[in-house]
Amino acid sequence: MPQRESAAQRIQELTALIHHHDFRYYVLDDPEVSDAAYDALFRELQDLEKQHPDLRQSDSPSHRVGGQALSQFTKISHRVPMLSLANALTEEEFQEFDQRVHRFLDRPVGDILEYYVELKFDGLSVNLTYENGSLSHAATRGDGETGEDVTHNVRTIRSVPLKLRTQTPPQLIEVRGEVILPIEDFEKLNRQQEEAGQKTFSNPRNAAAGSLRQLDSNVTASRPLTIFCYGMGYVSDLKLKTMAEYQDQLAEWGFPVGEFRRVCRGVNEVLKFYREIQERRSDLPFEIDGIVVKLNRLIELDQAGYIARSPRGMIAFKYPPRQETTVIEDIVVQVGRTGALTPVAHVTPVRIGGAIVKRATLHNQDEIDRKDIRIGDRVVIQRAGDVIPEVVKVITDVRTGREKKFQLPKTCPVCGSLVVRKEDEAVTRCVSRNCIAQLKERIRHLASLDALNIEGLGDKIVEQLVDAGLVKNYADLFTLTFEQIIDLEGFAERSTQKLLDAIQRAKTPELDRLIYGLGIRHVGEKTAKSLARHFGEIEKLMVANESDYENIHEVGVEISKSLLHFLSDPQTIRELRHLLHHVHPRKPKVPRAEGGLRLSGKTVVITGTLPTLSRSDATRLIEENGGKTSSSVSKKTTFVLAGEEAGSKLEKAKDLGVEVLSEGQFLKLIEN
Ligand code: IVH
Repeated sequence: MPQRESAAQRIQELTALIHHHDFRYYVLDDPEVSDAAYDALFRELQDLEKQHPDLRQSDSPSHRVGGQALSQFTKISHRVPMLSLANALTEEEFQEFDQRVHRFLDRPVGDILEYYVELKFDGLSVNLTYENGSLSHAATRGDGETGEDVTHNVRTIRSVPLKLRTQTPPQLIEVRGEVILPIEDFEKLNRQQEEAGQKTFSNPRNAAAGSLRQLDSNVTASRPLTIFCYGMGYVSDLKLKTMAEYQDQLAEWGFPVGEFRRVCRGVNEVLKFYREIQERRSDLPFEIDGIVVKLNRLIELDQAGYIARSPRGMIAFKYPPRQETTVIEDIVVQVGRTGALTPVAHVTPVRIGGAIVKRATLHNQDEIDRKDIRIGDRVVIQRAGDVIPEVVKVITDVRTGREKKFQLPKTCPVCGSLVVRKEDEAVTRCVSRNCIAQLKERIRHLASLDALNIEGLGDKIVEQLVDAGLVKNYADLFTLTFEQIIDLEGFAERSTQKLLDAIQRAKTPELDRLIYGLGIRHVGEKTAKSLARHFGEIEKLMVANESDYENIHEVGVEISKSLLHFLSDPQTIRELRHLLHHVHPRKPKVPRAEGGLRLSGKTVVITGTLPTLSRSDATRLIEENGGKTSSSVSKKTTFVLAGEEAGSKLEKAKDLGVEVLSEGQFLKLIEN
């Protein structure tokens, strides 16, 4: 046999063998060969691929060890949106959920519904796309419609199948799962980070997210991430009837689905599972924050419909936050972006779930007084998900009398200006416009991921830039020179140029990101989007008045007041004008139409495959034109946007006499 042909054949054999051993080791936790034997196979494959680079397949296990770093992430639209879940925090709330589901399904109270239950893994959700059985793309959840392309990183996760274990894969399928970092690995990683003088992670979920969102897949490959898969998005040609069947199918294809999952009949069986898992929670090697309960029959799930962005037939049944006791060693005051003074307790480090807690927020003076929290007190603290830990109560029985009461200072601990507490507010603020602490936070916020996303401009660098007097306002960021940056500690030529490039890229942001980045009180991402859409240009926002704001859905009295306050301050206006010399926001794609937006107040249901638009593009166009999308057809639906293979929704629209538009008709409708 010619050498090339035999190499091709051996590569195929090795690929299949390594996939098989990965599955045994990482999914079944039941290896068949020794590590040394496995390594030998791996090296043989790598050598052959080096000799014949063109024979390396996209699903080759050699992709698992990382590769060339990317310069930035690209976006990927999910074919079917990634929704979220409503929560039940108590057993009563769960019972109410069950009753609600009965009503939506039109079933008598006494009927027993079948639920599929499994763990709620606390990690980062991803969407894996398999084309003809091979992993072709992997994306983060993002906003549910569009996420970031992390294919290069996900390939390095050993428990993610690069190829489905079947001879007859579906043509196209999206698999949803949660990427997690086991607790032990998280602790090891933090120890390594600390030794290397790098930033540590506050909990396993953040560590998983940080590890997956790496431009350099070699970094991801060095982190022992794993995955649990819990669902599917788009699926071509697969006809199953229940959630349990779906999960079994995933398991058969080689996906880890977790061992704790079952079908429960009625509320009581679910409660039993909930309590059983609660008992075992602290023994699990990874973090969970609850269980997920799903109507098992897909037909019922569909019938129950959706509310906001969540299926009505599913719920996250959460466990109460974990609590521990510790001692308050000190109370330190932090100054935030808007000048708010936040007292923070430094506590004796204590492990709660997967994280070591060293600090807890005390919110404000009223909270300290109400709970009578003193320095030296033994306290109960709790941590729920990503929220900053907080003090629940003081254990007063063990007080010695040496505890010290705490009072917020009368002046800003950073700039020394007087602080003010308005009568109707709980927050005390430093009102100086020149407070360095506020400036640092403002710059951090402007540079953050959801604002201008200046990569590499982390907390430490902002600190250095402000302390060195190089950045005194927003605009200064954009006039930084090579010489100024390279002089800072820790910078070399390459890192300096990298930062300058990132700053350069941030000069043409989308308008809503800039508005959000200004850090106006109460203006979050969503409001910033509405403002951008409404005004179209920053200049128009800057000269708007109260009655202009009133016309915008989502802008209430509080936001309106805050905008007026922000935009009537002469120094802010001056700084903003300076910033706009350097930063030129891009206009939102669809400009404002006369007399309001075309689809204001309208509800649209999308169904089937559209000829040119993806689901998320169509949703974006509808939203940009002021409309809303819904996933179920009712009398309130304005029209159904239908494409190929539109099924029951199209039927229902016809039954209810709801208008049906094709993509062409829809595009005409929103044309300017
Ligand atoms: S089902 C409609 N099952 O929780 C969304 N989600 O709060 C279907 N999650 O974004 C989600 N474990 O990232 C489902 N067993 C599980 C899960 C799970 C973790 C995450 C997932 C989702 C979030 C919703």
